[in-house]
Order: sequence, then structure tokens, then C-alpha cells
Amino acid sequence: MHHFTQGKPTRQGHKGIPEGHYEEEQGLKGFFGPVSHLIKKQPSTRWTEIDGPLKPRMFDLVKLDRSSGSQRLLFNKSVAIHMSFVDVYSPEQATSMRNADADLLYFCHKGSGEVFTEYGLLNYTSGQYIVIPRCLQHTIFPAEMSEFFVVENKTSHYEEPERGLVGRHAIYDINALIKPDLELQHQRLKELQLSVTEIAVKRLEAITRFRYDDCVYADVVGWKGDLYPFTLHMDHMMPLMSHRAHLPPSAHTTFVARDFVVCTFLPRPLEKDKDALKVPFYHQNIDYDEVLFYHDGDFFSRDNLHAGMMSFHPQGFPHGPHPKAVQSVDSKTETSEYAVMVDTRWPLEVDPGIQPTESVEYWKSWRG
Ligand SMILES: [Fe+2]
Repeated sequence: MHHFTQGKPTRQGHKGIPEGHYEEEQGLKGFFGPVSHLIKKQPSTRWTEIDGPLKPRMFDLVKLDRSSGSQRLLFNKSVAIHMSFVDVYSPEQATSMRNADADLLYFCHKGSGEVFTEYGLLNYTSGQYIVIPRCLQHTIFPAEMSEFFVVENKTSHYEEPERGLVGRHAIYDINALIKPDLELQHQRLKELQLSVTEIAVKRLEAITRFRYDDCVYADVVGWKGDLYPFTLHMDHMMPLMSHRAHLPPSAHTTFVARDFVVCTFLPRPLEKDKDALKVPFYHQNIDYDEVLFYHDGDFFSRDNLHAGMMSFHPQGFPHGPHPKAVQSVDSKTETSEYAVMVDTRWPLEVDPGIQPTESVEYWKSWRG
């Protein structure tokens, strides 16, 4: 449809909003699609009650039982999000896994270690994404207790975002994607005397075990191609910013899938123009659910928020700058939050297993 205006709109989104008024963005496709900005006298978060399933929700994943190994958090037909805990184990206990249901994105929230793959060795530390395409076998071998926020991509493959005008070295340089090291892996297999002889394959949620007499990682002498596991660390990402107007979350897209996107929020200076919004604008993601995992940093914009928590904002829930953020932003010149966002095209369901971790009063904190 063609661009159209009525009444007294602003000239530039997220900027020059008349005193005492609020800008609300209503858009499709997360922040990528058709969009309108409404200038309102009152924010849409001035509800007195929300009665029904569209309440925003917050879960304290620090409360999850680490001995459980893994807990599904949220899911739909195209994506499943888990928290996974891998403790240190001896080389004799190592097994390999393949996920035939999904491409895997591990985000290391805590810990460090190695990942053995047929393509070579990958190392990880806190803040690192590890991408394992569907059905590629891998063994996570932690150097210390490791916690992962895991996103299973069931209907497509992880791709890099379109960088468009800013070129292929923006957001993160393609050289920041770390490839597996085959030579190093052979060396580490020897040092650890690691011999992985079992592969557990997950397909349609059922496990099939393949057993071998020799190590399933020791037989590859070389490979070529454009399908392989890789890592990307938050420290090697270069967030886009505009000093004049607030950029939408889509500017921070890290990976794109058919039915969802993964964005990374990193420390950055706040906007400098006096009339620029310095906090997230009021918006309704009309057709996307929003999940935010808080990894690290100072979450100045919220009360009672700490690393390891996850918020879930269902589509259609109008929200904006958190009231606490509006109060404290004037004293800030930068944000120091590290967070991972998963925006999904289709509605997510909450796994009943995480209900004990829910902060049930969270939705009330949004009342404007
Ligand atoms: Fe949002």
C-alpha cells in the first residue's frame, strides 16, 4: 500500500515526538515490514487490567534444575528454545549427537570448552554462538560447567542477515565466523585420548544410537564445501547505530531463519540528538512473538532483572520503553546490556516445565 498520512504525524520516526505525546509503531514482519507510526496523547500501555493469555511474561531461568541436563522453554511448529546444562565429564563418557529435526544454534551463556565435529574442533566461551547445521554430529566437551540458550530451527537453515547498504563487513565481518580446525582436533583427540564411539541421533524427538568400534572423529583427513559448523562471538560483533534516531531491533539481526530471526543487543552509545528517543519506542509486533534472553550487563531499564532471565512478549501486546527505563535514561549515555532476542512468526507455547520459574507479577510492571 502507498504511504499515507493524516492529522499531525512526525517527519521522522522515533524523533521529534511532540511534548506530552507518545509514538506507537504498528508493524508487520517484526520490524521489517509495512509499518505506521501513530502519535497518541496516551500510551497504549495504560491498561488497568489484562485478562487473557496475552500477558507479557518473565521467567528466571537461574532457578532451573541444572542436573536436568536440558529444559524446553518455548516452542511452536518451526522453533523450539531450550536451556541446556553440560557439566564437565571424563573423556571416556563422551558421546556424539546429531539432530535430524533441526539446525542448532547454541548460545553460551556461561562456561567454556570445546566442540568436536567431523569438520574439526571449535572452541567456545561465554557470549559465543555455535551453529551446528542439521544432522552434523558433534560433542560438547566443557572445560567448566556450561550453560547454553539453544534455538532449534526446525523448518529452515540459519543464514546471515541482508546487510544491504552497509555492506558485508557491517554487524559482523564474515571473517568473524570461526571455522572448525581439523588439525587441532586430531591433536586434542590424542592429548585427551578421546575416543567417541557412539552417536545419538534425534529424529521426530526419538533417539537412535549408532555404535562403532573406533572414534567417529578420527577418520576424517580432509573436507571441502560450504556446509559446516561455525562459531561467532558477541565480542566480534559491531552493532549498528545512528546518533540521530533510534534504530529498530532489526538493525541488530544476527541470524535469519524462515520463521524467526535472532538478534543480539550489545553495549552501544545512546542517541545524541536532543529530540531522539533513547529508549525502545512503543510498538505492537502485530504478527511476531518476542523472546529476550538477558545474558549479561547492567539492565538499567528494568527492576528485579538479572542475567539468566527470559521475557516472552506475545504478538499484539503493545509495549514500549519500560517505565523504569524512561525514568533513568536521562542520566545515561550508553547501554551496557547483552541480550539475545528471538522473534518468531508463529505463536509460541510455554513449556509447563518452566512455570515454577515465572515472575507472575511481571506484566504489572509495564503499566504506563
Ligand atoms: Fe518489543
